[in-house]
Amino acid sequence: MPSSDSSVTRTTTAIPESTAPETPGLRSAVFPPGLTSPKLAAATKKSAYRYYAAFSEQFVRDVLTAVNLGPDQMVLDPWNGSGTTTRVAAQLGIRAYGVDLNPVMAAVAKARLVDFQEAQDAGQFLAELTHRRPPPARWRNDPLRSWLDEYSASLVRSVADRCAGVAGKPRAAINVMALSPRQAYLIAVLFIAVRQLLAPFVASNPTWVRIPRSDRDRIKIDWKTLRAKLLESALLLQADAFRTPVAQSRVRLSLGSSTFLPPDMPQCSFILTSPPYCTRIDYAVATRPELAVLGISREAQHILRRNLLGATTVPGAVNVEAEDLGITARSLLDEIRHHSAKASSTYYFKWLAQYLVAYARSLKQLSQRADPTASMVLVVQDSHYKDVRIDLAGITKDLLAMHGWNLTDAQSFHLPVTMAGVNPGSRQYRTDFSATEQVLFFGRPAQKGTD
Ligand SMILES: C[S@@+](CC[C@H](N)C(=O)[O-])C[C@H]1O[C@@H](n2cnc3c(N)ncnc32)[C@H](O)[C@@H]1O
Repeated sequence: MPSSDSSVTRTTTAIPESTAPETPGLRSAVFPPGLTSPKLAAATKKSAYRYYAAFSEQFVRDVLTAVNLGPDQMVLDPWNGSGTTTRVAAQLGIRAYGVDLNPVMAAVAKARLVDFQEAQDAGQFLAELTHRRPPPARWRNDPLRSWLDEYSASLVRSVADRCAGVAGKPRAAINVMALSPRQAYLIAVLFIAVRQLLAPFVASNPTWVRIPRSDRDRIKIDWKTLRAKLLESALLLQADAFRTPVAQSRVRLSLGSSTFLPPDMPQCSFILTSPPYCTRIDYAVATRPELAVLGISREAQHILRRNLLGATTVPGAVNVEAEDLGITARSLLDEIRHHSAKASSTYYFKWLAQYLVAYARSLKQLSQRADPTASMVLVVQDSHYKDVRIDLAGITKDLLAMHGWNLTDAQSFHLPVTMAGVNPGSRQYRTDFSATEQVLFFGRPAQKGTD
């Protein structure tokens, strides 16, 4: 995301009288003064885990410290991404539960729980593992073959199997839930190494890694190059590890959808999260090389892609009439259905409807899984379809109001340039590519309970 903390400006949004809470105690946890921007600072983006949509750790620390959860209370992040919420919670000793549908993000979130000693041990393991070239592991339809020739793919596969502790076992995609944080960390080292090796395929839009059409364009990596990249990446990642041991056992990570949260998930007391942007960023495509490292087949990648919020693939029809989406979402859908731009009433309408239906279901799930006195911080970014503003904050307020939540505090951060500026097609409709990121704090009057 081409914005940095230094260029982000903050404004405090006045809460309209009608939404100001009447119930004493509801405002008990409001934002600390001078709340840091949720956006990852430019300096942090240089770190090994460059996830463009990630929170800044300082922001999460500010919020979790202000909320001051008790020892049995749990924070939930249902769109945990690279796991900033769960990482900081582990550092602060807070019980946390992180959900994400993308196994790559679940692996990264787990890897981010290791401390410095574990990182050093993992580095040592890697040095020993790479001391001698391991026997290549050939897969018939290895997804790594999208970019690598057969030999190179078999080398990477062999390292992946050893890092995940599955060498010699029947061939299957790596089960990230079965990985220890140390194994996840080793896999994350491999993610970084492979991404660097695939640099020739990275397009100007950093979320897109091109797949060559012909076999001739697939690259060959020799063992020496792969080994050097692995050791370099291990050092890079070590710098991100916690300096002191952390409460790993206080954190649970789950691979699942926000539209249907795991049935065994405990009730939460606080939710801190950021939903997928309502832009056509394809989170599955953005992690295609890492999905390939995990051995996730192209077919399974396709299914994942369709199930992520914001999916760019749309079904034949979306039944929006059956869903209560609130007035802001309804009028937005109408505006897009009648927009003059090509495919507005067909593809784009369905794309947005699909996002909104899944978003509404997710917020309902969150509401059902939060205890009656829970509060919630949601970070949302507005976006545009052509010249139409998508007011995700307004949509969120409507949807959460249906489940008894009141907006109790809000802060806006102005982002001068967004990904939309990268897309030449957008320039026909707009010249301003700034966006507003809003931090929204919600609470529920205790007597109302869950819906
Ligand atoms: C804006 S990112 C969250 C970033 C996170 N705050 C961090 O610090 O890295 C949104 C995440 O939602 C995930 N996601 C998309 N659709 C989902 C779904 N249906 N269920 C669960 N997670 C989903 C994406 O994989 C992505 O990691």
